[in-house]
Amino acid sequence: MDKNILEQAQQHFAELVKSQIERSEKMKSALDWIDYSTLKPIIIGFCWGDGIGPIISREAERVLNVVLKDEINNGKVQFRTIEGLTIENRAAHMKAIPDDVLQELKACHVILKAPTTTPEKGGPYPNIESANVAMRRELDLFANVRPVKIPGEGVDWVFFRENTEGAYILGSKGFMAGDDVAFDFKVITRPGAERILRMAFDFARKNGINTVTVVTKANVVKTTDGLFLEMAERVGKEYPGIKWEGWYIDIMTAKLIDPKRRTQFRVLVMPNLYGDILTDEAAEMQGGVGTAGSANIGKRYAMFEAIHGSAPRMVEEGRGKYADPSSLIKAAGMMLNHIGFVDKADKLGKALEICTQFEKKVKITGRDTGVTGREFCDYILETMQSPDLQEKYISFTG
Ligand code: IPM
Ligand code: MG
Repeated sequence: MDKNILEQAQQHFAELVKSQIERSEKMKSALDWIDYSTLKPIIIGFCWGDGIGPIISREAERVLNVVLKDEINNGKVQFRTIEGLTIENRAAHMKAIPDDVLQELKACHVILKAPTTTPEKGGPYPNIESANVAMRRELDLFANVRPVKIPGEGVDWVFFRENTEGAYILGSKGFMAGDDVAFDFKVITRPGAERILRMAFDFARKNGINTVTVVTKANVVKTTDGLFLEMAERVGKEYPGIKWEGWYIDIMTAKLIDPKRRTQFRVLVMPNLYGDILTDEAAEMQGGVGTAGSANIGKRYAMFEAIHGSAPRMVEEGRGKYADPSSLIKAAGMMLNHIGFVDKADKLGKALEICTQFEKKVKITGRDTGVTGREFCDYILETMQSPDLQEKYISFTG
């Protein structure tokens, strides 16, 4: 056995432990929630991203310009474009988020982010960390909230995915012990588990939902998932009207496609990687990962994004203009809701549901067999602004 490796391992692990204890301590002294109603202006930053990102961003921006017309005119809301979160610029700086870009992000209150390329080993770009993962960590966006609805089948789920720690926090800090043995590390902290669980239980209480489903693999991954479950027990006690249930990720994945069982789930909360996987599965049932939006929420900042990727192939094949902007527009709606424009968000959400799930007057297929993203956005805008939006919505949903 090479003694050097053991020494390196000790040092590597000690550094990780130190950084994670510091992070956990910092969480305990975190600030209070920001109050958007007192802000003027609320600064909304746009990151246009890679691949189809700029194309679908233009449509999302168009929607927001319509929805927030008055607020832009009276100075309540201000838009900012953040250049530089492109794969080319990130690769040039060899950083997930170059320093000046991070500064610009931190000068905003909320961010609408189009998909960014996540490099991988052996790919065309240097294997730097994902911009999503870095932004979630740097801005402490600890909750990833992903609603999934299939109205015809009684499915109405809201996923609360822990968004900064778990398998992700040290995802780029693994350790190769020699040539043959690879380690990665998973970290769950008590304050980290507590804040995401609390958010899920609070959401359930606010919305009159009486069950919370906690997903782990605590029977096998005992220390970290065990702590998550222990915190669920503890936090759950503070919500007497709400019963919580523990499920393991494997059977949960199966039961999401069981029509008899799945309607019982409403609020689901889980560590990072399980949430990553489960929300793709759920979004696919709703009509594809391109149909979902995702809110990354922290106390000071929040970032809203589509959950699909940057689809470079679509652009290479000249199909960029057929990319579906619905997911990013949905994310824009979640952003409106988060910063307090609840009625506007509601209208936009209803228009999106009508266009993507019910009426489907025009179809977007990602190819020239359907309409372009611009045309689809026109359809959404038209539906949102039609005076009989409410009646139309009720006629579909009953
Ligand atoms: C998501 C994505 C990201 C994640 C990737 C792009 C790093 O899959 O938002 O779910 O794994 O969180
Ligand atoms: Mg994912």
